[in-house]
Amino acid sequence: MSKKTYYITTPIYYPSGKLHIGHSYTTVAADAMARYKRLQGYDVMFLTGTDEHGQKIQRVAAENGVTPQEYVDKIVDGIKSLWSLMKITHDKFIRTTDDEHVKAVQKIFKALYDKGDIYKSEYEGWYCTPCESFWTETQLQDGKCPDCGRPVEKTREESYFFRLSKYQDRLIKHLEENPDFIQPTSRRNEMINNFLKPGLEDLCVSRTSFNWGVPVTFDEKHVVYVWIDALSNYITALGYLSEDDSKFKKFWPADVHLVGKEIVRFHTIIWPAMLMALDLPLPKQVFGHGWLVLEGGKMSKSKGNVVDPVVLVEKYGVDAIRYFLLREVPFGADGVFSNEALINRINSDLANDLGNLVSRTGAMIQKYFNGVIPNERQPGDFDEDLKNLLSQTKAKTEELLDKLQFSSALAEIWKAVSRTNKYIDETMPWALAKDEANKPRLAQVLYNLAESIRIISILIQPFMPETPAKIWAQLSVPESQTSWESAGTWGVYKPSEPVKPGEIIFPRIDIKKELESLAAITETKKEEAPKNKAKEEEGTPSLIDIKDFAKLDLRAVKVLACEKVEKSDKLLKFRLQCGEEERQVVSGIAQYYSPEELVGKTLILIANLKPAKIRGIESQGMLLSAEDKETGKLSLLTVDGDIAPGAKVC
Ligand code: MSP
Repeated sequence: MSKKTYYITTPIYYPSGKLHIGHSYTTVAADAMARYKRLQGYDVMFLTGTDEHGQKIQRVAAENGVTPQEYVDKIVDGIKSLWSLMKITHDKFIRTTDDEHVKAVQKIFKALYDKGDIYKSEYEGWYCTPCESFWTETQLQDGKCPDCGRPVEKTREESYFFRLSKYQDRLIKHLEENPDFIQPTSRRNEMINNFLKPGLEDLCVSRTSFNWGVPVTFDEKHVVYVWIDALSNYITALGYLSEDDSKFKKFWPADVHLVGKEIVRFHTIIWPAMLMALDLPLPKQVFGHGWLVLEGGKMSKSKGNVVDPVVLVEKYGVDAIRYFLLREVPFGADGVFSNEALINRINSDLANDLGNLVSRTGAMIQKYFNGVIPNERQPGDFDEDLKNLLSQTKAKTEELLDKLQFSSALAEIWKAVSRTNKYIDETMPWALAKDEANKPRLAQVLYNLAESIRIISILIQPFMPETPAKIWAQLSVPESQTSWESAGTWGVYKPSEPVKPGEIIFPRIDIKKELESLAAITETKKEEAPKNKAKEEEGTPSLIDIKDFAKLDLRAVKVLACEKVEKSDKLLKFRLQCGEEERQVVSGIAQYYSPEELVGKTLILIANLKPAKIRGIESQGMLLSAEDKETGKLSLLTVDGDIAPGAKVC
């Protein structure tokens, strides 16, 4: 019999800059579902990718002096390495610049045109380039984009239109007959009341004012509207309308599209209408999750308040970050991200509750029985209660995961962690160990602890890719006792070797020190933000007066020593002479200079920049360099002739 299939997708990301922790949120959630379904024995297709066309990308590429393709290639590489760092197990990564996708989109456009569902007319209205969205005059809010609040541009073009209005009644009917189609329910009501009931207008689906897009085959001055191009990825990735459409036949319709709340409209109105027009079945569900925001509001590169997932993963490990993302906020609601909440969660749930449980159990088995729990065991008080709770945890976790309730599922698993910790307090193994006659009872207690941990370690697998194997190694749980199914059965644990208690799986974090270090990183980003903002918005820096310049303490400094920072391709660590004083500075120029060639040189330092920690190393200032627009190469600024170290630059 063939296996049951499960098809889950994330949105495809705009490669317009580095992804932040908010982007990772969707992908980590989808990955947890994909892992969970694989563990249950499903044949899983997990799709993610990048949405590479559109005016915004074309503009940013031009500002950077490169072709759009060169621009996106570089960023897509970064996105792929972020997913590998976060241990994302997608089965396919689609790029909308993939040849197969482009051809399929062209065929979809042509098919809809031939059917009369796409027709030519003229468009006049407003366009929000960052959102790649069209708006009518009445839809604008205070003259700005109703989705993101940014300025819109007046557009008048000959365009092709999709007969969205034709599908309005069928869409309403579908939403009413399938209450689970849009989740959470509040988003479903919003779509019906705010968009469908007031009436749908036909949608402009081609552009002529730029050319970075999929060309319309029968009218080459038009490119396909990015959202038509992007939404199609969910079927073109499966080979729809290609020579080999076996995956499409196997996996379509999707079980769930995971999307952020601001793009639910595209996925529950435009996308289903396109599928209806193509006579294809609709996805079973679109789940619109909330946003991760910071205390000061939404994350944005120009505000300089983005949280970099790479920094967090390097500091605390991928499992801690994935756990936090899925535990902290109920999936569907908005949630506030803070460094403090992150560290508190790591310390309480991971270091104290789970980490301690594992290390204490391993250490006790080692200490009292030389690593091997004897077979002669004596049941006693509290055993049944522990066993009952632990045996039910799998079913409860599954019920919640099937509804994408990650946070509640983790809370259910952590109930088992707490129950097991409580069992240690109740049975007091250290007291039992004092009397030889209690050894069989002690053996039973330790067995129950190890068995509870075995069950817990299996159930955390969808969320934590690294921790389960560490636990199995420490408690010598053979692979044959780690199947997903076996987490529903009590009494499976039979170690073939002595336990090997080892490293602490989640070290406790010194909250004060870490908050300072994270704040310094954010400060550095904030200082870079005005630069980004000027680049993003004007392309030219704004004017400053001499007082602004005077705030900078620029100094000529001499390089006393220079070395590469371990495990980093980009960073060099400098010891600099600045007057009487020595400074340590970390600079991201290792790709352009070898440390030896810099020793003895005189460079320019911003000496009054707040110190920041980069990769755990304090940097006391910033060295100035100039960036080549074409290649991105950095050249360090130096001085003409000899000058004493510490001389002021004015
Ligand atoms: N390219 C479109 C999607 C096309 S799908 C056919 C797009 N890309 S995006 O890069 O802007 O966003 C990708 C996803 O990241 C969206 O689901 C968005 O909601 C999510 N997030 C971006 N910032 C976020 C937070 N701060 N918090 C949670 N999710 C966020 O939209």
